[in-house]
Amino acid sequence: MSIKPKQLPQFSTDAKLPHFSKHVLNWFDKNGRKHLPWQHNISPYRVWVSEIMLQQTQVATVIPYFEKFMQSFPTLKSLACATEDEVLHHWSGLGYYSRARNLHKSANRVMNDFSGEFPDNLENIMSLPGIGQSTAGAILSIAYQQPAAILDGNVKRVLARVFAVSGWPGKSDVLKRLWAIAEAHTPTQQVNNYSQAMMDLGATVCTRSKPNCAQCPLQTNCQAFTNNTISNFPGKKPKKVLPIKKTCMLVICHNEKVLLQQRPTTGIWPGLWSFIEIDAPLAKQSLECYAPLISTLISTKLAAADSLELQAQFRHTFSHYHLDIQALVLNYQHLPIENLPTSLRWYDPQNPSAIGIAAPVSKILKKLFKQSSQQQPELTV
Ligand code: ADE
Ligand code: SF4
Repeated sequence: MSIKPKQLPQFSTDAKLPHFSKHVLNWFDKNGRKHLPWQHNISPYRVWVSEIMLQQTQVATVIPYFEKFMQSFPTLKSLACATEDEVLHHWSGLGYYSRARNLHKSANRVMNDFSGEFPDNLENIMSLPGIGQSTAGAILSIAYQQPAAILDGNVKRVLARVFAVSGWPGKSDVLKRLWAIAEAHTPTQQVNNYSQAMMDLGATVCTRSKPNCAQCPLQTNCQAFTNNTISNFPGKKPKKVLPIKKTCMLVICHNEKVLLQQRPTTGIWPGLWSFIEIDAPLAKQSLECYAPLISTLISTKLAAADSLELQAQFRHTFSHYHLDIQALVLNYQHLPIENLPTSLRWYDPQNPSAIGIAAPVSKILKKLFKQSSQQQPELTV
């Protein structure tokens, strides 16, 4: 009977670098940001609001929003008592509005479930809507000085480079390894400064492109720097193989204008204006077959086009599929269309009205009508 070898883990546990946090803290003493509004009058409430605002938004943008927010809602209770509209009003321009809705919801939860006291442990903080483990770690470390690890996008990049963690951090085994590294290196002293320093380091020194390694306190420990492999880390998200769909857009031209149709409020380009589409298989020889089709699409009395021209196919890529688009230009001298339904309109590309146009439609119009950029309507998606 053969003896099965004991299964080994895929990679050994990363060794803890002994002076990691000391290097980071020394760097923070000299270079860290220490005068941001939420670094003064520190309270769990202020740190929480700042961390939510700082998700996906840069420090410089957040500062004035944070200050106004604190003037209007100086306490967690005042935030809970506000209406959602008032909270959203203070968020206008910051984007990602679910953050504001969750902030407001969380304030009410804290009032109801935690007697108005912002919780001081990971589990309860993470039970609030809109707070993941990294944000909870930031609040615990900065507001309560508890040695909780953080791992936002910036910190992931720093750790992936220093420890040469390959693979895309969105993958669970990669993420697990990064969390293990983050936790092993979080100090018990000055953890507030350490968290802030790691985020600042990622944002200002170990940037996505052209990191400033000469100024980096982790340079001598950094595997990516030492091996000159910085661009390999963090690993990229694997590209999905997207399905390909095809469509034919009918560019119906009459009197220097084109016919546009407003798209339904669901699906791609919701509510935007686009060309009428048909999904017939395309081939130059079969051009003639479109004329009767268009006739039935718009008006049963529509005469055949005076000229037809099939444009070269191009690709528009959405997150979930490629759309190969071919424009069929149809020129009409006489077009007996009256009383257009509200979902159709004649659009003058030389003198565009301010309506939302789907991006590929703008592209087609630009090519056909050689518009200058100023004449482009503003709203394109
Ligand atoms: N991003 C998230 N939290 C942050 C913080 N406290 N400072 C700077 N950037 C951040
Ligand atoms: Fe990032 Fe360069 Fe520092 Fe490595 S040495 S952590 S790549 S800035």
